[in-house]
Parts: sequence; C-alpha cells; structure tokens
Amino acid sequence: MNPNVDNIILVGFMGTGKSSVSHVLAARLGWNRIDTDVEIERRDGRSIPEIFENEGESAFRSIESEVIQNVLLGSRQVVATGGGAVLAEANREIMLKRGFTVALKASAEKIIERVRSDSARPLLKGNLEGRVKQLLEDRKHAYDFAHMQIDTSGLDVRSVAERIMEQAGL
Ligand code: S3P
Repeated sequence: MNPNVDNIILVGFMGTGKSSVSHVLAARLGWNRIDTDVEIERRDGRSIPEIFENEGESAFRSIESEVIQNVLLGSRQVVATGGGAVLAEANREIMLKRGFTVALKASAEKIIERVRSDSARPLLKGNLEGRVKQLLEDRKHAYDFAHMQIDTSGLDVRSVAERIMEQAGL
C-alpha cells in the first residue's frame, strides 16, 4: 500500500464512469466513498437541477468548490467529482495535493449512450448529442492535469479499478 496516497480522486466528463468505478475502488480498498454531487445536495438541501434553476451555474460552482475543499481534508476516501469540478484552479490544485487524481475518458458516443436515460444533468438539457459534443470541445484539455488518464470506453468497471490501483501503487 502506497502510504503517500491519501485519497483517490476521480475526475472526468459526465458519463465517463466515475460513480461506478468509485464504488468498486472503495470496496476493494475498504475506503469511504464520497460523491461530491451527493454531498452538494445533502449540504444544500436542494437537488442539482434546482440549484442550477434557482441560482444559476456560478452559484452551483461555489458550493461545489466549498464541498471539494472540505471533503479533501479527509483521508482514505475515493472521491467521485462532478464533470465541471476541475474548472476551478483551486480545485485542481487541492486534488493534485491531496490524492492520486485520475481522469476517466470515454468517446462521445459512449458518453451519450450512458447519460441518455438520466435527466438530472442541467447542462445537457435540450439537444443531448449537440450539448455533449460542444461541452467535450469546450473541456478538451480540462482533465489533462490529472496524474493518470484512462479511457473507459472499451473496459469493464473492474478492469478500470484494477489499473488505477496498480498505477497508484495501492
Ligand atoms: C456537471 C456534471 C455533473 C454535475 C452537474 C454539472 C458538469 O456531475 O456536477 O450537473 O459541469 O459536467 P457528473 O459528472 O457526475 O454527471
């Protein structure tokens, strides 16, 4: 077990598998699993679509940053973050400092297939295909800062988790 790794932090676009991979990793490591979207809803008392609707994206980003800074004070956690959590530099910095940060990637087709049945993502409202492609373009380099990159398109969740543990030395 690599004693220098306090947390594993999963970043990546919506629908790249952060949540499913975090479940497997947390079970394998015996660590706590935290989903920052769930934490935001718990602390705020409103759902993410409600926060976006009532207060807008920038208010959501402030709450998200606060949650990330707080959660990463802890250790022995697998942290699944929202797709836009990496947009704030302060968040990228603390992620790199407080854990092994892994960017999950997937093709646009795979992402569209995975997010199609879920209506809880305000940024994908409307033309789903068009929104995913536009945001993927806008965020082309947003996840490059991570310690490790992994394409989940052709892999099952277990294999993704195995590779992450191997690279993290866990
Ligand atoms: C967002 C991703 C969502 C959620 C919010 C905004 C984004 O999380 O935080 O809807 O900006 O990419 P998931 O990546 O878990 O879907």
